Amino acid sequence: MKIADRVRQIYERRPYPFGNYKALKRRSWSLSLEWIDAIGRAGARDGALARVLLAGCGDGTEAFNLRRRLPRAEIVAVDFSARSIAVARRLQRRSTETRGIRFVEADLTDLRLPSRLGGAFDLIICHGVLSYIPKTENVMKNFARCLKPGGALYLGVNGSRHVNTRLRRALPAFGYDMNVFQDSARLRGLLKMCDTVTSADGLARVSAHGPEFLASDVFGVLNRSLDLSKWALHARRAGLHLAGNWASTRLFRRLVESDSHPLLVPRSRAQVCDLLERLSPSQFHRLLFSAKAESNPPWEERRALLKWSLALTRLYRVGLPRARGKVLDRVRKFTIASVALNLSMQWCMPEWELELLRRGDGTRSLSSVLRRIPLGVPFPELRNQLYLLYQLGVINLLPPAAGARASGS
Ligand SMILES: C[S@@+](CC[C@H](N)C(=O)[O-])C[C@H]1O[C@@H](n2cnc3c(N)ncnc32)[C@H](O)[C@@H]1O
Repeated sequence: MKIADRVRQIYERRPYPFGNYKALKRRSWSLSLEWIDAIGRAGARDGALARVLLAGCGDGTEAFNLRRRLPRAEIVAVDFSARSIAVARRLQRRSTETRGIRFVEADLTDLRLPSRLGGAFDLIICHGVLSYIPKTENVMKNFARCLKPGGALYLGVNGSRHVNTRLRRALPAFGYDMNVFQDSARLRGLLKMCDTVTSADGLARVSAHGPEFLASDVFGVLNRSLDLSKWALHARRAGLHLAGNWASTRLFRRLVESDSHPLLVPRSRAQVCDLLERLSPSQFHRLLFSAKAESNPPWEERRALLKWSLALTRLYRVGLPRARGKVLDRVRKFTIASVALNLSMQWCMPEWELELLRRGDGTRSLSSVLRRIPLGVPFPELRNQLYLLYQLGVINLLPPAAGARASGS
């Protein structure tokens, strides 16, 4: 039997997450649409996510959660397990809240998929799926063809530090065939023992997880747990570009706290993701790709950089203090917080920088805003401040043409 058929069998037996809404609610991470907009759709001027594809939707739980957050979007949810799609449709009929989701039984590796689904998706979400698909290149090609030019692909995939890489080496020593999952008290006991060791190494505990997780994430015929660079390579071959990594957005804060972020100038967001992954490999990646290559601002050229325009993202709530007085280098305190990233920071900023943020609506060039600020700001200081706000996803910087388009000129 082909690998894909054996993978399908796992989900035919246990549609994921098996109606386990409580378990999903307990998930420590839920997809942040604000993060996707800020990092994956930087410069997208069309705002709302109108069309979303859920690739590998399981029993529909993920789609129902998304419907609550995007009540007006057109959601298409695909899975190749007939039973999963049947469960999803049955659950859908139970509530009016879940209307308007189109569930489709289809294989993500089938190259006829784009013509079946139609393209022009603003967002494709593929969480916990690609690690189990043998023909990654077909899936990536389909995603590239289904995305709108300004759209984003979110990929949740196993990383090289995933605990399964260790368990798949250790459990065969106790007679287990890692291709076949069979729950038992003995297995749970062994997993508990393994947890004791691997958790000391900072890895996630697995022994208390439900059978649907163990069947696919620990056991299973295929389980790709790869470095960020390998996932990025698969995407690049299909013409998709790495735009961001959830772990990097969070890790960058540490660099700011240690004041070491200027050392990373002029690296792009994708280059910073790559570097941070080398220093701190992930167990699970939450990655963003876009069809357009990232336009990294010209960090080292004063004139060129000042032609770009600044736009605040929706990822943070920035409590900008009101403009007060004319002392532009006076430092003011305020709070910057992000529910999605679960962080709140006390920030100190000189008045001139606050003014840049106040006027940062993505339409005016930095130089035109700075012209109104009668203070010669040293370029390295300006550049480093913009760089850290950009890497944290507080702001986006838009190239001159995009800024001009946005202002309608
Ligand atoms: C671990 S579940 C994840 C479900 C959902 N994305 C979530 O996070 O709750 C993986 C799902 O991907 C589906 N899947 C795996 N390979 C697929 C393929 N080639 N085409 C379509 N669906 C696939 C499986 O049937 C299963 O429902």
